[in-house]
Amino acid sequence: MQQSELYFTNSSIILIRFFLFFFNPLQRVHILVLNNYMKLHNLIFIFHFSLLTLFIGCDTLFTSKPETGETFDQTLEGLTRTQKLAFARGDEAFEKTFSVIEGLGPIFVQPSCEGCHNGDGKGHPRTNLKRFQKNDGSQVDTNFTIQYGGAQLQQRSIPGIPPEEIPSQRSAISTRSGPPVFGMGLIEAIDDATILANVDSGDGISGKANFVPAHEMAIPPNVNSYNGKYLGRFGRKSGTPFLLQQVATAYLQDMGITSEFFPQELQHAQLGTMSENIPEPEVSFSTLNDVANYLRMLAPPKRGKITSQIKLGDSLFTAIGCANCHIPKMQTGIHPTIAALSNKQVHLYSDLLLHDMGDELADNFIEGEANGKEWRTTPLWGLRLYAENLGGTAYYLHDGRTNDLKTAILFHGGEAMSARNLFNALSNADKEAVLAFLRSL
Ligand code: HEC
Ligand code: HEC
Repeated sequence: MQQSELYFTNSSIILIRFFLFFFNPLQRVHILVLNNYMKLHNLIFIFHFSLLTLFIGCDTLFTSKPETGETFDQTLEGLTRTQKLAFARGDEAFEKTFSVIEGLGPIFVQPSCEGCHNGDGKGHPRTNLKRFQKNDGSQVDTNFTIQYGGAQLQQRSIPGIPPEEIPSQRSAISTRSGPPVFGMGLIEAIDDATILANVDSGDGISGKANFVPAHEMAIPPNVNSYNGKYLGRFGRKSGTPFLLQQVATAYLQDMGITSEFFPQELQHAQLGTMSENIPEPEVSFSTLNDVANYLRMLAPPKRGKITSQIKLGDSLFTAIGCANCHIPKMQTGIHPTIAALSNKQVHLYSDLLLHDMGDELADNFIEGEANGKEWRTTPLWGLRLYAENLGGTAYYLHDGRTNDLKTAILFHGGEAMSARNLFNALSNADKEAVLAFLRSL
């Protein structure tokens, strides 16, 4: 939802009303003369002006409303009525800001999903979250994680409880910004085999799958299990296999909201077990489902205008090897519940696999089979609208460390070093074409 726009319109109406109230000459006469006739006259006058300002306000709202396809809250085409209703319920839940009496905390990171996924898009680096762990470079010290209520830091807390602090004995801190959340159903509907076909394709780029454990309640019927693990596809290291699990984990880890999935409150790194005395679970199973369905039915934005420069950028993107990881298109299989997700082409610009991205991007944080240098190829769809949803500036990479697209490319190391070098060797005009192409996605 374009909340900022509504706020702007509402606040401008209020400002204009205030202005009229205090500076309208008849109003001053009213204060001085206190004549009944003038009072009535004044009321009529204010009423008319209010109507006029309301009209101007509405006009601003209507004229600045983005064109269809320009926001991240579009639904997939071909949804049923029931699905649209679930979408609306999930949308509301996603925007909801939790209060203490509704179960927020006792420790948390942000009080709403929307807080870190602005307008269903990217999170601002201001709302980055942090995870910590102790590892020896290849093995995670799980006792440490349990002892300190890790791996995620909850740096905010409800009144009366001190926030968590990162224990000094940790060896790694991973800082992450919220990725956009549209197109999640399409990502979920891609068959494992389609993703696994790109593992280590012999082009010098070894895409690696992250096989991870799943929460029992989130495992859909008929999914492939790999020795009791599942193919991870969500999160910046593909650490989560299923959308419902991602949603339930977010409620607990990001907001301190318990569910049937996770009926126990978070453990405080310094104070241990705690609760805010609100009965668990604090969010219902059906709300988790609504939110998951909402994210499934959020469509990726359509491509922007395609010029000849953008066409050139597109072919350079493939020629210099960007498309080896940022795979332009994949196909979904059959989605068990939402027909609109089945057999669709997905223009994701990602292989959903892990790549060693070199030291500069490394966080030394191990997640499932992902090591401290590996990250999931970031999908690039919707890139042209990132800035719009973040008040005019987009932030790139896993921690939003740069707002400059070229710098984001220049941070690519490890397996992406050759693509980065080839990008660097392009003429200025060709570099601009690649950037223009990215900004058209
Ligand atoms: C404190 C900020 C924060 C809050 C609050 C938050 N998220 Fe996230 N979200 C993130 C970050 C950071 C990631 C990447 C996580 C990772 O790398 O494991 C993420 C990942 C996701 C993803 C996967 C996106 C992808 O590209 O794989 C989904 C879906 C998601 N969040 C949904 C939610 C929902 C639903 C809520 C509310 C219940 C929520 N988030 C609340 C920060 C947040
Ligand atoms: C070896 C695989 C690989 C190659 C090749 C590659 N990328 Fe990436 N790209 C990634 C990964 C992984 C990330 C996430 C890195 C992170 O966030 O730390 C990423 C992130 C990005 C981002 C940031 C997106 C965002 O929203 O934060 C952009 C832009 C990008 N790549 C463009 C390119 C371009 C242009 C090329 C070609 C010059 C390229 N990439 C080549 C794997 C690759």
